[in-house]
Amino acid sequence: MRIRVLGAAAGGGYPQWNCNHPNSRRARQDDPAAPQRTQSSIAISADGDEWYLFNASPDLRQQINDNDILHPRQDLRHSPIMGAVLTNADVDHVAGLLNLRESQPLRIYATQRVLGVLQANTIFNVLNPKFVSREPMTLNEPLELQKPDGSSLGIEITPFAVPGKVALWLEDESKGKDFGSVDEDTIALYVEDTNNGKSFYYMPACARVTPELAERISGADLVFFDGTLWVDDEMIRDGVGIKTGQRMGHISVSGEDGTLAALKDLGIKRKIFIHINTTNPILFANSEERREVEAADWEVSYDGMHIEL
Ligand code: MLT
Ligand code: MN
Repeated sequence: MRIRVLGAAAGGGYPQWNCNHPNSRRARQDDPAAPQRTQSSIAISADGDEWYLFNASPDLRQQINDNDILHPRQDLRHSPIMGAVLTNADVDHVAGLLNLRESQPLRIYATQRVLGVLQANTIFNVLNPKFVSREPMTLNEPLELQKPDGSSLGIEITPFAVPGKVALWLEDESKGKDFGSVDEDTIALYVEDTNNGKSFYYMPACARVTPELAERISGADLVFFDGTLWVDDEMIRDGVGIKTGQRMGHISVSGEDGTLAALKDLGIKRKIFIHINTTNPILFANSEERREVEAADWEVSYDGMHIEL
């Protein structure tokens, strides 16, 4: 199985369009230790020819251009992209679907909840429903990803709920403290190559590592995990935002309740942060925080990172 990181940054990308924070300035100044990153998404393939997107970021057009594996290869209209799997309805994970207009055969897999969001926004019909099918995923039920012609991609995924929150743009304050969030709003994926049995977990958003989640991912070969913030209040502290990570549905990397501590002794062979916010110092190749995560056997993903399992 091949995995290509198309985008490693959180919502808004790195740098963010209106952000004048020193971190964003470093990226604009082409600091080699602070490479720009597009919004979070990966592509996966069993054979290297045909690919599925995990989430469709608003930067998808750039991501396709930057990754020749996703370029058209034959005829006058063609794409190696067979479809997309959505882990939530965040703008950084669904808005890119609009790039996939219009009559290219594709399959879009998501929970009923997220499919309902797409259904309610008729702009997504730019993916012509005659050519693009929408496939409901049931939590905890494995399913084999299919190409648009119905044949198998050779990859099985199992969606499961993780602690999280409904997409920011769908928050409903009348529904109490969790804004009406339900299990299907934030999912993670267990992904297995059906030929060689190799597998990994994909979790770009997660608010908390519960004992059940820790047990599930114990001993995994590879985990991609939510790397949004270093500390919960860093956006407030740095004066660029008004929300904590917890308010946004994201666990922090550091601290007693953070990801480094929670995934420390789980015997996971390879751990990689993805969905990294502009304020997180692990973005920098030469930061103290980067040294700390690397000392804890974590990697920080970057656009174009390639992995074979
Ligand atoms: C998130 O991950 O919390 C969202 O992508 C935030 C946003 O919509 O900008
Ligand atoms: Mn996001």
